[in-house]
Amino acid sequence: MSVRNGGLPRAYRGRLLTPLAAPDGGAQVRFLEDALLVVGADGLIVQVAPFAPGAFRGPVLDLRPAVLMPGFIDAHLHFPQTRIIGSASGALLDWLDRSVFPEEARFRDEGYAALVAGEFTDRLLASGTTTCVVYSSSCAGATDQLFRALLRAGLRGIAGLTLMDQNCPEALCVPRDEAIAAARDLVQRWHGEGGGLLEFAITPRFAPTCSRPLLEAAARLARDHDLLVQTHVAESPAECEATLREHPWARDYVDVYDRVGLLTGRTLLAHAIHLSPREWDRVAEARSSVVHCPDSNFFLGSGRMRLGDARARAVPVALGSDVGAGRSFDMRRSMSSAFDNALCLGDRLTPSALFVMATQGTADAIGLGRVIGSLEAGKEADFLAVRFPDHVLSDSDLLNHLAFAPETAAIKRSFVRGNPVHPRPPGAPPLIHP
Ligand code: GUN
Ligand code: ZN
Repeated sequence: MSVRNGGLPRAYRGRLLTPLAAPDGGAQVRFLEDALLVVGADGLIVQVAPFAPGAFRGPVLDLRPAVLMPGFIDAHLHFPQTRIIGSASGALLDWLDRSVFPEEARFRDEGYAALVAGEFTDRLLASGTTTCVVYSSSCAGATDQLFRALLRAGLRGIAGLTLMDQNCPEALCVPRDEAIAAARDLVQRWHGEGGGLLEFAITPRFAPTCSRPLLEAAARLARDHDLLVQTHVAESPAECEATLREHPWARDYVDVYDRVGLLTGRTLLAHAIHLSPREWDRVAEARSSVVHCPDSNFFLGSGRMRLGDARARAVPVALGSDVGAGRSFDMRRSMSSAFDNALCLGDRLTPSALFVMATQGTADAIGLGRVIGSLEAGKEADFLAVRFPDHVLSDSDLLNHLAFAPETAAIKRSFVRGNPVHPRPPGAPPLIHP
């Protein structure tokens, strides 16, 4: 544990772009040409205000002309797929068999897992992601290495052991009792570590690879510890058919998770492309969230998620890269793909809406909306300094470049709970506030 800066608050000067909660439950974007962001020694934002000379007594780090903005939140990606990004080996089920499962089997080697975990956190940091919700492999040792890497990097992370006890290669198949014991052990070891930056999530891979007893045991563990649940739902038609073949007692895909107790107010359902109106209604009633993974959906040819179905029922929508079916760790790529996805359905999302979706919207959907997602007093200081070309001046131009021309906007610095996490000197110890 360490407290930066001798316990004093610290201030950052720059242009500033942030979502602000609006009274109607939506979000607007606030832009300040010249702002001061004051961060307390506990990593909380003390003040966001227009810069005024002499208003702050203490060191001010002048980051102009960079733009200060909340860090990106990636609500869905797979750590053991870091090295197989871009494996265009088919649609979902073929891609899993041909590319994903052979690679995930390699994570039984803890040395390999540790190496890739370092690559994984480096890629997140380079992309301006400060919070991730992530799947490990089904191997407990690899999951331990993932948590170690997140802690070392100073990132905020919610991670889970991927549960699967059927319809997968033997190397990845872990029987129910063994898997639940391993998950319980990881909860004890990691949930709440890093001063609360790290959480454990219950992570059944998806219905076809999980038996009913495993799903039920996973739901009990989630309930016992009030844990987030993450899984996939209705990503491809063939997967939906496989689900009902494996679980003929369920009336539809969502009903599988519902009947075993996994459809809760803390459940994140990734993809949600091929859902019926009844399934959407149940997701809404259960107050679950969906994770929109548009770049992955284009890459695997899975289909278009209808944002309107979620919006019509006030289902919270998070944004996820879904690496390695998603082709980039950079959430700006996902923002751009979300635009394309909506356009295919006749809807034109604004860059401002895309920015809100990748920050405050995702924070709300994963249950951290009061903690992160915007730069406002009382929130934790997870923020970036982003350098745009000199000619990009107005807030609308900044948002256009952010969403659609990420190569022009360099992530210069990232902070998590006020701690500098990117760039960090090699070998620097983690800086975690209590
Ligand atoms: N469904 C089950 N597992 C996976 C996975 O690893 N990636 C994606 N995109 N979908 C899945
Ligand atoms: Zn996924």
